[in-house]
Amino acid sequence: MVSTKTQIAGFAFDNCLMNAAGVACMTIEELEGVKNSAAGTFVTKTATLDFCQGNPEPRYQDVPLGSINSMGLPNNGLDYYLDYLLDLQEKEPNRTFFLSLVGMSPEETHTILKKVQESEFKGLTELNLSCPNVPGKPQIAYDFETTDRILSEVFAYFTKPLGIKLPPYFDIVHFDQAAAIFNKYPLKFVNCVNSIGNGLYIEDESVVIRPKNGFGGIGGEYIKPTALANVHAFYQRLNPQIQIIGTGGVLTGRDAFEHILCGASMVQVGTTLHKEGVCAFDRITNELKAIMTEKGYENLEDFRGKLRYID
Ligand code: DHB
Repeated sequence: MVSTKTQIAGFAFDNCLMNAAGVACMTIEELEGVKNSAAGTFVTKTATLDFCQGNPEPRYQDVPLGSINSMGLPNNGLDYYLDYLLDLQEKEPNRTFFLSLVGMSPEETHTILKKVQESEFKGLTELNLSCPNVPGKPQIAYDFETTDRILSEVFAYFTKPLGIKLPPYFDIVHFDQAAAIFNKYPLKFVNCVNSIGNGLYIEDESVVIRPKNGFGGIGGEYIKPTALANVHAFYQRLNPQIQIIGTGGVLTGRDAFEHILCGASMVQVGTTLHKEGVCAFDRITNELKAIMTEKGYENLEDFRGKLRYID
């Protein structure tokens, strides 16, 4: 009896697979689609305080080895997602869901988090420190001083279970510096990784997305080695109370297996979900279970974090 069930912050999930924020999660209809699929849970599109139109289209393009996007945080605003989640936790009290959010400024982030704190929301909150696509706004998580300040301010009032979505880091010193900051706070999880920011995809002689002259976040097959490195680097460095969600380059059960081997307790699917729809959760789950069966693993704890090194 092979199981892919998991826990985050003490909440149980029947399956370790879920959507990555940004894919299949803008509307209630899309969220219902993920909820009623083989996925263990869902995360909402990153909510800002108010409705946001996002960047001009075309702003997302699937490409042979992944995707490129410059969405610019289009979303229906905090209340849309929060009201839906409050309703859902009455209807499905035995399931837990993720609310992704970030403000357009640190002040707005605090306004949003205080609203969540004061609400009846009992689920998990993911603070997105890694949106690469809002013109003129740098990714918060690449500025360690600001990240440290925001987290210290947040934990002065926020007592619900909170995690953060991170961009990929590419230097061992940055893994060390980032982990030292995160270890100061009662974070429940870090989610590695968001898209690799500001790539450029060209067809014939043109870019394929309109915003920022074609620069956009890269997802899919291109990013798996970077995603696995970030998952494992933080698994090695973070306090064991801070769990890892692995995101990036999950096309198959083998990819999910590798994320878990690197230390992930939950695995998110973005580009592949966009390309394939929610039936991707069935397929990837079955492929993961087949690998576990072949290896004699019954549950994720049998191999989580047990990546082997060469002496
Ligand atoms: C957006 C894109 C991302 O890759 C992300 O992580 C967060 C937000 C966006 O542009 O909406």
